[in-house]
Amino acid sequence: MPDPNYMDLRSARWFAPHDLTGFVHRTAIQAEGFSRFAIKDRPVIGIANSWSELVNCNIHFKLLAEAVKRGVLMAGGLPLEFPTISLGESLMKPSAMQFRNLMAMDVEESIRAYPLDAIVLLGGCDKTVPAQLMGAASADIPTIMLTGGPQEPAHFRGKQLGVGTDTWKYADELRAGKITEADFDELESAAKPSAGHCSEMGTASTMTSLVEALGMCLPGSASIPAVDSRRGQAAEATGRRAVEMALSQGPKPSEILTKEAFDNAITLLMAVGGSTNAVVHLLALARRVGYELQLDRFHEISQRTPRIVNVRPSGEYLVKQLFEVGGIPTVLKALDPLLNRDAITVTGESLEKGYIHAPEADGVVVSSLEAPFDASGGIAVVRGSLAPNGAVIKRSAASKDLLQHKGSAIVFDDIYDLGRRIDDPDLDITEDSVLVLRNSGPVGAPGMPEWGMLPIPQKLLRRGIRDIVRISDARMSGTAFGTTVLHVSPEAAVGGPLAIVRDGDPIVLDVENQRLDLDLPEEEIEARLAELKLPEPKYRRGYGRLFLDHVNQAHEGCDFDFLKGLPDEEPQRLPY
Ligand code: FES
Ligand code: MG
Repeated sequence: MPDPNYMDLRSARWFAPHDLTGFVHRTAIQAEGFSRFAIKDRPVIGIANSWSELVNCNIHFKLLAEAVKRGVLMAGGLPLEFPTISLGESLMKPSAMQFRNLMAMDVEESIRAYPLDAIVLLGGCDKTVPAQLMGAASADIPTIMLTGGPQEPAHFRGKQLGVGTDTWKYADELRAGKITEADFDELESAAKPSAGHCSEMGTASTMTSLVEALGMCLPGSASIPAVDSRRGQAAEATGRRAVEMALSQGPKPSEILTKEAFDNAITLLMAVGGSTNAVVHLLALARRVGYELQLDRFHEISQRTPRIVNVRPSGEYLVKQLFEVGGIPTVLKALDPLLNRDAITVTGESLEKGYIHAPEADGVVVSSLEAPFDASGGIAVVRGSLAPNGAVIKRSAASKDLLQHKGSAIVFDDIYDLGRRIDDPDLDITEDSVLVLRNSGPVGAPGMPEWGMLPIPQKLLRRGIRDIVRISDARMSGTAFGTTVLHVSPEAAVGGPLAIVRDGDPIVLDVENQRLDLDLPEEEIEARLAELKLPEPKYRRGYGRLFLDHVNQAHEGCDFDFLKGLPDEEPQRLPY
């Protein structure tokens, strides 16, 4: 390799000039105790760290950052770590999703404003990963991600638990009177036994797996458990690779995040039975790089992609066990005929190169394409008079006998209405009813919280019923399950037809034929829509106001309209 020309580095624009500005920039680094030697002729690698004591899933990121720095130093770069806001799924209200775009802006502007030649993203908990990817995609300097890894499996009464999945199940058992409060308290302290993101294929593990299929992290790094020493080793390797990427000035996110890469990610999403939240995040990320990915692409790929991964909530095991049989490279290898093998990754090599030597599918946690766990992918797209711009359903986690269903609506105007009435003994409900929750979308809730797995009314639980059809403009936790239609677009709060459904209206769900209809005469629907009054906005100032004024609907990924990638972006016209 010829000697890199350090004057070509982005950071050289700050540090190289022998003038007063260069002096000021260099002293800012030396003020931290770095010598002049540390900034002379070497790339600066930014480490965007989403560590926070408010985000338990990312609590080990200080240690990971140290390992990244070690790698950067070994390769001759200068690592500079910086914090960004972090998004904790469990604690943030009304929903971490409301702040995904804020974090993306923080990441983008931090990268752009500082003298960085390449960036390492440290993300883990659900929304931190898409937020970082979106920000870095818009900033578009060489970027490599290191995800935090899944937490250790929890055990309760001799059984291995999926954190989210089993919490919901035991919560229903408690409401049904099958376990005691004391049992539930014991479960609470056992539920999260280590650092790391949720241990099943919830949103976090789905997104971190997709990072690998997109080509944005080192092959094999996504599913290493959070506390496994191999994650530290991967962090070190990530740091080393970041220096190489800085010196070769690529590949950049815009070179990696191609249509082919998105198809690979969607294929993996279906194969792992992953979270519906990934749909929203991929739609948003694609738009950052100027690719108008459509909801229907998910359905098309879902139709041709079997589910070959047996991890909860769609299957039986946890991500730790997936790692033990070969991790994401083994899954990608099994999916090989369905992938764009030549898609370029952060390694500078093809996706194929990263999985070609992976172990073969073991047949238990990962199957072959020929003997899958489900013939088609986990997520289906439906549309119709109740969802003109589409909605999604995770069919791999739904009851098969409800995927084609007609029933009368029981409507809840918002989450409070639901809370008040759901367990009312007088609720006029049968197992054929369809529960509708509205005003829980991006604008209505706001922030499109994970309210979509509406609780089964106690009345039905007592009769042993554990699933009925549920429809909303909300999202659902990646660890949730049931016959739940989500992301109805447009949402009720902006005048979508969900707003005009009344108790007793017939609703038809037909997943096979991709339909979701309010089975009323068109004139009736039109007449009701014409009379509709939109709710008052929930915020009048601050970030909430910005959010309400600019958030896109679910079928476009809920990004802000002004953050979409443009062919001729300003930064290219600015000196830095
Ligand atoms: Fe952070 Fe599940 S709560 S990943
Ligand atoms: Mg979640």
